[in-house]
Amino acid sequence: VNRDYQTIALEQDGWSVRVLDQTLLPHLFEYRILRDCDDSVTAIRDMWVRGAPLIGATAAYGVALAMRADPSDSFFETAYEKLFSARPTAVNLRWALDQMRSCLMDKPPSGREALAYARAAEIASEDDTLCSAIGRHGAELIAAAYRRNPERPVNILTHCNAGALATCGMGTATAPVYTAHGDGIPVHVWVDETRPRNQGAALTAWELGRAGVPHTLIADNTGGHLMQHGEVDLCIVGSDRTTAAGDVCNKIGTYLKALAAHDNGVPFYAALPSTTIDWTIDDGVADIPIEKRHGDELAVVSGLTDTGQVASIRLPPVDTPVGNYAFDVTPARLVTGIITERGVTKATKPALQEVFADLSKQD
Ligand code: MRU
Repeated sequence: VNRDYQTIALEQDGWSVRVLDQTLLPHLFEYRILRDCDDSVTAIRDMWVRGAPLIGATAAYGVALAMRADPSDSFFETAYEKLFSARPTAVNLRWALDQMRSCLMDKPPSGREALAYARAAEIASEDDTLCSAIGRHGAELIAAAYRRNPERPVNILTHCNAGALATCGMGTATAPVYTAHGDGIPVHVWVDETRPRNQGAALTAWELGRAGVPHTLIADNTGGHLMQHGEVDLCIVGSDRTTAAGDVCNKIGTYLKALAAHDNGVPFYAALPSTTIDWTIDDGVADIPIEKRHGDELAVVSGLTDTGQVASIRLPPVDTPVGNYAFDVTPARLVTGIITERGVTKATKPALQEVFADLSKQD
């Protein structure tokens, strides 16, 4: 996929970090510069960057910025804690911070800044590679669906944005779509708008449009109806954390799509790199803390006015209590398969352990 934007990159000065501010998309395209660790915390917490793999890469660069300011052990620990608490669900955050810890902590402070920048750059470029591998494996599923029904494009439903914008590469859930599209397979994506923050409407629609992939935006409640009428060939979603047993935590509403897919015999896949697997837990419903965010994310909607201005309006009565849950857990039994960088595997503990024997022993 040809992308003319980067979600995260080192600036020309060789030390500050440029991120695309995703809170402004799709109507405004602006980069922001991160100059210290606190900037990185803000970028993650306020969702200038979002999506599990990109959160990890931003945290890694946050540590590099911290080491530039002060390479001491205590400064590292403070940076680790601040970044770790910026968002609770995406396990790539902890993974990236632990990578930084093992790369830096047994080294003399004088060398840590350079090492931290090098490891952060590697984490970003490794993510790009992981996304491409996910794309290659997932595209085979799309190709197979096309062979079964070559009369029409393959209809893929996705939820939220697990796209290029959520990663340092071509995305997780979108990678198979971009790869299949690049291979000349006709595809069409049903894009869930994804309340409360509308990452589907604002981000997935934006990046698919920019890449020339045919797509249609739908209200979140539409998927079940489309599945009943044979209009969805497969669902592919991303994940923010997946347990060792294959439970998939993803943007709120994913579980309902999986239930509808199950009821209608539609294959339901989660596409994720191994960095999103939390090998320390099995039971996603019991063990994954679900982020609750400010009610205004649900109550206040922003968009373009008729006069071309970006404006925000409040939908419910001003004093309505709002519950804003960011994620839910889809139990492994509802997941047809997990598309990883090493292939498509069953959503079971033995299957994941077999494919990732080297990683799953780390707990
Ligand atoms: O809250 P966000 O926007 O950071 O949520 C993350 C997501 O975009 C999704 O849940 C996504 O499908 C998984 S991240 C590749």
